[in-house]
Amino acid sequence: MDKYSLCWLDYSNPYIKRKTFASYAQQVGAAFTNLFIDPSVKNTAIANELKRFFAEYFGVALVQSSKLSESAILCTLVSPDQQFHVDVEAELFRVEGSFVIRYMAESRSVMIAAASETGLLYGVFHLIRLFQQQRDFTLLDCKEMPHNPLRLINHWDNMDGSVERGYAGRSIFFENDKITADKKRITDYGRLLASVGINGTVINNVNVKGRAPFLITSEYLKDVAAIADILRPYGIRLYLSVNFMSPVLAGNLDTADPLAPEVFRWWQDRVRDIYAAIPDFGGFLVKADSEYNPGPHNYGRSQAEGANMLARALGPHGGTLIWRAFVYKLQDWRDTSIDRARAAYDIFQCLDGQFDSNVILQIKNGPLDFQVREPVSPLFGKMQHTNQMLELQVAQEYTGQQIDLCYLAPQWKEILDFDPRIPGKKVTVSSIIKGSVWNRPRGGMAAVSNIGRDYNWTGHWLAQANWYAFGRLAWDPSLNPETIAREWVLGSLSNDESIVASVVSLLLQSWQIYEQYTTPFGLGWMVTPGTHYGPSPEGYEYSIWGTYHRADTKAIGVDRTKNGTGYTAQYYEEWAHIYDSRDTCPENLILFFHRLPYTYRMKNGKTLIQNYYDAHFKGYEAMREMQNQWLSLKDSIDPQVYQEVAERFTKQEENARQWRDVINSYFYRKSGIPDEEGRTLY
Ligand code: GCU
Repeated sequence: MDKYSLCWLDYSNPYIKRKTFASYAQQVGAAFTNLFIDPSVKNTAIANELKRFFAEYFGVALVQSSKLSESAILCTLVSPDQQFHVDVEAELFRVEGSFVIRYMAESRSVMIAAASETGLLYGVFHLIRLFQQQRDFTLLDCKEMPHNPLRLINHWDNMDGSVERGYAGRSIFFENDKITADKKRITDYGRLLASVGINGTVINNVNVKGRAPFLITSEYLKDVAAIADILRPYGIRLYLSVNFMSPVLAGNLDTADPLAPEVFRWWQDRVRDIYAAIPDFGGFLVKADSEYNPGPHNYGRSQAEGANMLARALGPHGGTLIWRAFVYKLQDWRDTSIDRARAAYDIFQCLDGQFDSNVILQIKNGPLDFQVREPVSPLFGKMQHTNQMLELQVAQEYTGQQIDLCYLAPQWKEILDFDPRIPGKKVTVSSIIKGSVWNRPRGGMAAVSNIGRDYNWTGHWLAQANWYAFGRLAWDPSLNPETIAREWVLGSLSNDESIVASVVSLLLQSWQIYEQYTTPFGLGWMVTPGTHYGPSPEGYEYSIWGTYHRADTKAIGVDRTKNGTGYTAQYYEEWAHIYDSRDTCPENLILFFHRLPYTYRMKNGKTLIQNYYDAHFKGYEAMREMQNQWLSLKDSIDPQVYQEVAERFTKQEENARQWRDVINSYFYRKSGIPDEEGRTLY
């Protein structure tokens, strides 16, 4: 069995119990001795978590009883329709997972009230978070309601045990074409997910290959069901990625045509078997007609026809069909009339209204592919009759691969807050995906997971903060990245205010620094092909992937304006207008939208190329400062964490230096324009 860290649920971590902790623990210990759990609660995880936390964190053994008592933590189930002593709006309790936490002076107790056991469990984890922040418990009075109905993790785990774009070891679910799930670890995985409110997990890769098409057959269903059983007490529903060609690959049909009756019947049978084994199965996630994965286009059918067929098989059982909008064609780089950024919109927007009500379209945050910065996908806000879900990548494929520090919450926050500027309507991506804007029945947020079997789960210790932040933002997108970072540090690394401030500041700067030394101004795509780590300025220039910058000796970038590929017209008028003009286009995206000469003057009066040089030199220096800041924490935090993060910084320094010198030299060699400050270009 693997050993592993408990991340932010390691209640006995001595480094989070320093300074003022002792006196706080004394107060809490004196105040609470009892634990009351509503007698109708069956889920033992609720009491277990509270007892464990009190014992390991405060050294207090709570005495559980089924009678209401004083000086207690009380977990009460309420019904939205009942009159109860908690004067909250019944509306709150109608949303699954909601809870109230309140200090009740008369009984000197803290009450957690929820309408479901999962809501109680979320309340427990929230209370733990509040204790870790050393809140004055006599003032506790909060109501929490999840913003997104679906808060989903997507694992890109293969059945051979490898993880596509995984930077934290092998799969926690699979090895050697078998389900190997270590019960203890999956239980802790469930606790970690539930503690940030995640309520669904897709355990296998969207590229469904090898033995994975057979996961939905009797060969594997029992083992899949065993994972679902472990996760159920944590309010997590299990989903599977399926291959559209499964009736051929795993059945004995000779077609997967979504309109062929035998194909539908085959799927109905599989779904029936799945629900017999897993009554609360979540549904399927599908990557079709994309990057060598087959789909309805193979049979001349639309994406909606493909999705609806599967949705109709799942529907009677309450299942959801999640269909990815990441669909594009491979292309000839010589053909400049094709712009991959347009693909998702061109394929899906015209299908608005054609998807069944249990289909959710899962849309990557940007039109290309998880670059360090992209504009927000224009599909958000343009499909009012379709359930939509935002897909983020917590795995740092293009953002440093959990070697380089890159806290992504600030990026996600910008995406969630983006207003597509629908005439006369104030909305944000976050309100659209929730479903509230057009009363859509389903929606939410999904993220490609960054975890694996590594001791610390995420490769880089500080990358745990991304995992944590995704859940917190999916629950409440109004949280700010700094608050989330603080919570994570307090639960994981230290409660010493000076350390907290230092680590939080490292996290908060890291994304922009990574952007600076890699591909600022929205350029993207200069990574090493295949691995996607480190620079290779022309790695993708002459390939089939549609990700070109077309640098020559005078200019760089793709013109995606109305005079170019027309991509900007996919946005509502206001944004189209802003992006179309070099003068109004945000500079951090200018090379995404415009082809510009190196001598183009930017707002600070310097040329584009000079700004590019500056960003790389400054980004590298800023990275060195982050490294030194980390090194200054020696002796203040856990030595293993300190050491391993220091090692990552050593590698990050090499990577940043490589990016700086390769990119700057590339531009210098292309343009022949030297750096105004005479710094070394090679
Ligand atoms: C990226 C990534 C692939 C992945 C794909 C996807 O292109 O490099 O590994 O399969 O995204 O999102 O499906």
